[in-house]
Amino acid sequence: MSKHRNKFIAVIDKAMADGNKMEPEDLLFLYKQVLYPSTICSPETFKALESFEARNDDVFLAGYPKSGTNWVGQILTDLVTTSAKHTENFNSLEDDDNDELEEFPYLEVGDAEKYQRMENLPSRRVIFTHLLPNNLPASVFKREAKILLLIRNPKDVATSFYHFSNALSPLPSYKTFDDFFTDFMKGKMPWGSYFDYVFEWSKHADRKNIMTITYEELKENRALGVKQISEFFELHLSDEEIQGVVDRSSFEAMKENSTSTHGALGSVLFRKGSVSDWKNFFSEDHNQKMDMIFEERLSGTKLGERLKYGVYCKP
Ligand code: A3P
Repeated sequence: MSKHRNKFIAVIDKAMADGNKMEPEDLLFLYKQVLYPSTICSPETFKALESFEARNDDVFLAGYPKSGTNWVGQILTDLVTTSAKHTENFNSLEDDDNDELEEFPYLEVGDAEKYQRMENLPSRRVIFTHLLPNNLPASVFKREAKILLLIRNPKDVATSFYHFSNALSPLPSYKTFDDFFTDFMKGKMPWGSYFDYVFEWSKHADRKNIMTITYEELKENRALGVKQISEFFELHLSDEEIQGVVDRSSFEAMKENSTSTHGALGSVLFRKGSVSDWKNFFSEDHNQKMDMIFEERLSGTKLGERLKYGVYCKP
């Protein structure tokens, strides 16, 4: 897991360097009414993405930014890589000289030629995305590729996003949490509104090829979560192998390894890794506003219920 990240780190380093040189107002651009970071996404790539051909054995991870996508992404990649070792023509993704088999794992990030290169990747491809379901290429739903949908309570997502935005040059900075909160509530975030995201994905949550998992339940019982994910994707791992994936995905293990897996992003990404850090940042007013919008937009929706707002978001 740790060696095969040279391209990932190169993309991050370039985005950081470019972000440092850009004017704050140029950091994000609008595409089909959603904001994205200009340093790593582009309209040309979005256009090219429309012709991306999903495979029915692709392993998708969908999650709004800051929901723990790097965490669950590591679990998925580790599960798939470990399972692939059972097959005859296993081509180790751990090989140092195997860089050409690496693409930045988020589908919508990169250059417009990436989707052609992805055709040469062996199955099963592990693909992450922050996109709304309607903005995914049509082939994803047509091929019925399996999707793991990751959601996290909105207050911890906002808290995590605030720190992430302020620490990284490619994203807008905020003087106060209150300033950030205002934009978060309006959906003026890279990849758009959290509430739109959960609302739109809720419409798909009943599909048989989609499994939903919450950050909070994975925190509660990682071993169970890893086993369920493995079963959903029909990956056949021994108990010992599953335990290895569980051990390698602890917050401590991932943080320790983060310089080799995530480069400059590592020290920022692996911040707290906990549930309820929002209590250190939300005022009474923030709580009221969040409670209200949650009630309006997400209560009664399938995913809104799964988030257990009453358990994780009440003071
Ligand atoms: P915090 O900022 O609250 O610490 P994403 O990968 O989607 O950007 O999400 C980042 C969040 O996932 C961060 O939350 C990060 O600490 C948390 N995270 C990363 N690895 C984790 C792990 N192994 N266990 C728990 N949380 C983890």
